[in-house]
Amino acid sequence: MEIFADTADLKEIKTWLDFGVIDGVTTNPSILLANGVYDLRLGAVEIARLLGDKPLSVEVVTDEPDEMYSQAVEITSWAPNIVVKIPVITTQGDPTLGVIARLVQAGVKVNATACLSFNQAMLAAKAGATYVSIFAGRISDEGADPSEVITNTAQWLKTWNLPSKIIVGSIRETMNVQKAALAGAHVVTVPPKFLRQMIDHKYSRFTVAQFLADGLSAAERMTSLGLTMSGVNGAKKRPQVAPSKRKG
Ligand code: E4P
Repeated sequence: MEIFADTADLKEIKTWLDFGVIDGVTTNPSILLANGVYDLRLGAVEIARLLGDKPLSVEVVTDEPDEMYSQAVEITSWAPNIVVKIPVITTQGDPTLGVIARLVQAGVKVNATACLSFNQAMLAAKAGATYVSIFAGRISDEGADPSEVITNTAQWLKTWNLPSKIIVGSIRETMNVQKAALAGAHVVTVPPKFLRQMIDHKYSRFTVAQFLADGLSAAERMTSLGLTMSGVNGAKKRPQVAPSKRKG
């Protein structure tokens, strides 16, 4: 399974790339606005460059299908690793499937976004979308079960050997990531604050501190006996057993 960062924060993207964890980045107009990115082109180009050949999803900003097509062509010309996000329907509920199909035929990679049902994901996949973005948190908001939507879509894609990949987004808590992973998501896109929560654990902190303290005690014994232990004599700082401190 791939993990994308759901952010436009360059520092976070660089950090998680350096950690070897993320395989791409997703954005949407709300994420860009929240990160102070007002110039779509400049912001996208900067992130795309940082990512090398890993994919970056950038969404069109129009409700009109023909404009979606022309914006998509323009957006994908900015960098070779840009995947264009097309909302699966307009604000009026009109399908954008024709736009998705035309773009795919023209060789543009499409992320069919804002899918909240198995039906929407099916039709977007049939139209040829490279990715179908299923919004777990927003499905839960409506009282439905995102795991069921993800599992059904994943099984159906597999049964019919369709190439679309499921990106699960709209992550609201770390449990959503685990559930999406087990439900068969090909990709989960995660805001960096949840990536940090995923790696942290207060009992791991305690365990690491305990072993380090005992290692240092052994080194002190060696020193008191007039012996040296290569490599650890410089470590003078005693660890504190600290409670979990989460950023975010
Ligand atoms: C990712 O591709 C989505 O745009 C994002 O995860 C949506 O998240 P939200 O439901 O928190 O806005």
